[in-house]
Amino acid sequence: MKINNIENPLKFSYDIKGLNIPSRFFFAPINTGLSENGTLKEEFFDFYKERSHSSIGINYIGNVAIDPKYVTNSNTAYFTNQTNQWEKLVKSINNRGSVPGIQIACRNSSLIPIRKMINNNVEEYLNTVRTDLINIPKEEIQDIINKFINTSIKASNLGFNVVQIHAAHGYFLSQLISKSINLRVDEYNASDLFFLKAIINGIRDKKPNLIIDLRISFLEGINNDIHEKKEKEVLIKKLIDLDIDIISFSNGIYDINKQLIYPIEQWGHACFIQNIIDYANKYPNILWNYAGNIWDIEKLGLEELPNNLSFSLGRSLIADPLFVEKSINNKTHFINKCEYKNKCHYYSLNLSHIGCPVYELNKNIN
Ligand SMILES: Cc1cc2nc3c(=O)[nH]c(=O)nc-3n(C[C@H](O)[C@H](O)[C@H](O)COP(=O)(O)O)c2cc1C
Repeated sequence: MKINNIENPLKFSYDIKGLNIPSRFFFAPINTGLSENGTLKEEFFDFYKERSHSSIGINYIGNVAIDPKYVTNSNTAYFTNQTNQWEKLVKSINNRGSVPGIQIACRNSSLIPIRKMINNNVEEYLNTVRTDLINIPKEEIQDIINKFINTSIKASNLGFNVVQIHAAHGYFLSQLISKSINLRVDEYNASDLFFLKAIINGIRDKKPNLIIDLRISFLEGINNDIHEKKEKEVLIKKLIDLDIDIISFSNGIYDINKQLIYPIEQWGHACFIQNIIDYANKYPNILWNYAGNIWDIEKLGLEELPNNLSFSLGRSLIADPLFVEKSINNKTHFINKCEYKNKCHYYSLNLSHIGCPVYELNKNIN
């Protein structure tokens, strides 16, 4: 990896595997709910197009399922034989100056995702998930591994330059890598990471230049923070030996405590950033990515942070697609700020797709 514009930390760009990523600020993966039976709605295209600029290094299409069987909800996207809609999406992201990325996901659970922010019966959830995971036949896990590989290869063929493997938030791979959830003792145990190696090597075999990103939940919210940090230290040491280009830190498990995924405002700006800094310093050949409560780029104190640390922004860019553009060009007073009123949590609000009152109010003004 090469870092360009090193004199200005606001305007770094990265060269990875021969591809230029024009900014260290990315659009975080967002499951928009703007898809139906695998068909992307017009708003889906608009949503991503508006958030693509040269100031957004990678624009991640959030939560694209490896198969309709493994969607998160009925409006989650997945690949069908309508490949032209994905090519159109990739083209519009490219044309606007961002690198098209895609998050590949698998939710495999007997439980319907909870709508509440905080689950008040975590033990029951854990018991169910642990038992479900133990009982999954090996053949099904192998089939999921193959689907991750094939979907990633398909994504690359459609023009996506970055594939983010979703191993965060209680999704299937996040369960498999979790020592607190995965109690299997066969080759799919949580220590050997056989399934991750199989996925990464399977993609690499066919796509040597594809940029591979892995998103994990650094804090899961199951045990105390010290315990979880130690556990992740062990995990990350193993991840470093896999052929991964970007390691992305998120937090939380959807069905336990969503506040860890989208931190509440009171927890403060970039509230979990300390967790990633040492890793970025220790492993300079990997690009690290932090997400969570970034609403003021100046407050990040970029001069003090490792150069190989990038940032994914969710709600700030949902509220104002030009958030980064305005931030890095001295136009912060024009930013339409997220109010952290949870209106974008459409699933919790029993709605089918994303909405943002701040964005809606301002879209015709700017
Ligand atoms: C409406 C909504 C949908 C989200 N969907 C996903 C998703 O599909 N995959 C994922 O990994 N994270 C998802 N996230 C989490 C974001 O990627 C991001 O990590 C989180 O919002 C914290 O960043 P922020 O404080 O800048 O919003 C979602 C967040 C929101 C608000």
